Amino acid sequence: MKVVHVDLPHADYRIIVARRVLDSARGREALSRAVHGRRCAIVTDSNVGPLYADRFRAATLRAGAETASVATFAAGESSKTLTTLESLYHFGVREGLDRGSVVLALGGGVVGDVAGFFAATFLRGVPFVQVPTTLLALVDSSVGGKVAVDLPEGKNLVGAFYQPQLVLAELSFMSALPVAELRCGLAEVVKYAVILDHELFAVLEDEAERILAPDLPVCERIVARCCRLKAEVVAADEKELGQRAILNYGHTFGHALEMLGEYSAFSHGEAIAVGMGMAADLAVSLGLAPAELVRRQDALLQRCGLPLRTGARLSAAAEQVLAHMYRDKKVRSGRLRLVLPTRIGRVVVTGCEDEPRLLQAIGDRIG
Ligand SMILES: NC(=O)c1ccc[n+]([C@@H]2O[C@H](COP(=O)([O-])OP(=O)(O)OC[C@H]3O[C@@H](n4cnc5c(N)ncnc54)[C@H](O)[C@@H]3O)[C@@H](O)[C@H]2O)c1
Repeated sequence: MKVVHVDLPHADYRIIVARRVLDSARGREALSRAVHGRRCAIVTDSNVGPLYADRFRAATLRAGAETASVATFAAGESSKTLTTLESLYHFGVREGLDRGSVVLALGGGVVGDVAGFFAATFLRGVPFVQVPTTLLALVDSSVGGKVAVDLPEGKNLVGAFYQPQLVLAELSFMSALPVAELRCGLAEVVKYAVILDHELFAVLEDEAERILAPDLPVCERIVARCCRLKAEVVAADEKELGQRAILNYGHTFGHALEMLGEYSAFSHGEAIAVGMGMAADLAVSLGLAPAELVRRQDALLQRCGLPLRTGARLSAAAEQVLAHMYRDKKVRSGRLRLVLPTRIGRVVVTGCEDEPRLLQAIGDRIG
């Protein structure tokens, strides 16, 4: 078992990472502290619910919850909408949730984001607990308090910063996770290593396949390490006014690819992997990083089963990708700010006006 503390000025909470966290004394005690004597709403999706909702509901009741009702919505990004949110508000009223009630998000990043925004806004805010079940949610979306839903115009356009009271990272929930989802999460793990942790990068060079297995003891170490890295970044810059932007490494390029592929050509992890390749190529071309960095990053992404180029999935020109990058919600005053690596474990956030080099870096990975 590993415990990571997230320390923020107005909130601090623990991330408990273990293979059987719900059977451990520490996990039970933490859950009990969050739910004892309270009405609880477990929010989940149509894939995770049938697998784990009964077990988790029983654990919640054993931990002393007054009631534990389950709300299930259809799995997938297409459910991350105001419509799903509205149905959760009606569910909350029907179930008699009050300000002392607790929302528990049991699922991947979609469930965490929707349930978190439900918790942030229902009755002007009720406590919430994250129980992430995908690798991406374990290492990224369950930590740091960003919660949101999508609009037809774009992803995560309506949301809040709302921290959970507890993150219960039950690794055994990963056993049924499809390998494509593991790869998607692994792209974020590689991201942490490139931006912040050269030792983690070397560990991944040795153990990438064991995460994909998934070998749960290895996953426990890696997940806890990533959570610690994210916790440090979030503690320094909760609202993404500065340093937190480094977590977007590969994402400005990747989001443009996802958008152009209409969210079906690439998974998020695949788009981010290609995006990290574009960012690293650009860093080399601008003289910020050695070519060796691209070689090692490409080799690791390939071992993780992630793409290095768009392949036939995208027929767009580099100019179109760049135009979509300017639409990213992180663009301020029309200026593109990019996270570029300088060596493994170190990045800079910088403006980039050198359009020819940008187009070259993008174009070299298309096709
Ligand atoms: N809030 C943040 O900081 C943050 C960060 C990164 C990503 N996100 C968001 O996270 C979302 C992506 O998250 P995701 O990749 O976890 O996707 P997801 O929640 O859609 O889960 C992926 C698929 O795996 C299924 N699944 C989940 N857990 C499972 C399990 N244990 N066994 C079997 N199947 C399981 C889900 O039902 C779904 O079909 C996006 O909406 C993204 O915007 C948020």
